[in-house]
This record gives sequence, C-alpha cells and structure tokens, in this order.
Amino acid sequence: MSSSSLSDLVAERDRPGPVHHKGPGPAANGWLDPRGREHGGRAFALHRLTGLVLVFYLYLHLAVLSLLLVGSSSWSSFLGIVTAKGFLAFEVVLILTLIFHGLNGIRVALVGSGVMVSHERAIFWAGMTIGAVAIAGTALHVFGAL
Ligand code: HEM
Repeated sequence: MSSSSLSDLVAERDRPGPVHHKGPGPAANGWLDPRGREHGGRAFALHRLTGLVLVFYLYLHLAVLSLLLVGSSSWSSFLGIVTAKGFLAFEVVLILTLIFHGLNGIRVALVGSGVMVSHERAIFWAGMTIGAVAIAGTALHVFGAL
C-alpha cells in the first residue's frame, strides 16, 4: 500500500465489492499518513510517540510508587525533587502528552468507526484547540498562578 498514490487509494475505496481494508478507507480530503492511511502523517507519528511515552511513564510511575514500600523518608525526599519548579515543567509536558494522545485518539476512534470522516480535519483542530486551552490552564495551575 505504501507506494499507492492518493488516486489509487480513492479508486480502491470507491470500488464496489468486498472491502480489502479496515476502516472507512482513505479520506476524500486527501489527508493521508506516510503509509497511505487515512489520517494525517504527523498526527499519526505524534500519536504513536505519545502512546509510547505514556506506556513508559506508566512503568516509571509504578517504579516510583514502590518508594512507598521503602518508607516515609524516601517518599518525602522524592516529593522534594518532584515539586521543584524545574521538575514541574516535566509534569506539564507529560500532561500535554496525555492531552494530545487522548484528544487525537478520540478523532482516530471516530474516523476509524466511520463517524464524521469528512470532518476529520475539523475534529482534529477542534481537539487541538480544546487541548491548547486545557494545557494553558494546567500550566497556570501547576505553577500556582491559578
Ligand atoms: C486518554 C485516553 C486515551 C485515548 C482516547 C486513546 C486512544 C487511542 C487510540 C484510538 C489508539 C489507536 C491509534 C491508531 O489506531 O492509529 C491508541 C493507540 C495507542 N495508545 Fe492510546 N488512548 C488513550 C490513552 C492511552 C494511555 C494512558 C496509554 C499508555 C499508558 C496509551 C498508549 C497507547 C499506545 C502505545 C498506542 C499504540 C500507538 C501506535 O501503535 O501507533 N493510550 N490510543
């Protein structure tokens, strides 16, 4: 599929008969990823990257929680590190990662289910707008301004 042009993919989508691919097929708006799939290439790459970062964070989180087994003094010194201003910036980036993955994931799930396929770009930018407001509010809150 990777070498197929947009017109080949659209012809495949429009052909009557058995469906040879999952999902609604290539978007008529031409928003294809590098493998010819129906969503934006950069959004796809970022979705994968943020998904992997979140999996990494999940394990890191479990490892950090195991400090509780060591005792209250190790937990207190850990809290001293993570509540420093520099470290809080990492937390904002982590929340940004989650917000992007979650909101873009809603778009992927909708479009993959054949819902509002022709409004894919609008859903994406609506999600990113909501995400931008959410991350701005989060950053202000984390740094104590809100
Ligand atoms: C916030 C709610 C979330 C939503 C709505 C969501 C949605 C999705 C969707 C729809 C996909 C499939 C993407 C595709 O088919 O191209 C996906 C992939 C993935 N998600 Fe999530 N997700 C969420 C949270 C998470 C969390 C918390 C983690 C990690 C702990 C995670 C890790 C992943 C990974 C690793 C993939 C595979 C990415 C890839 O293969 O490109 N997701 N997510």
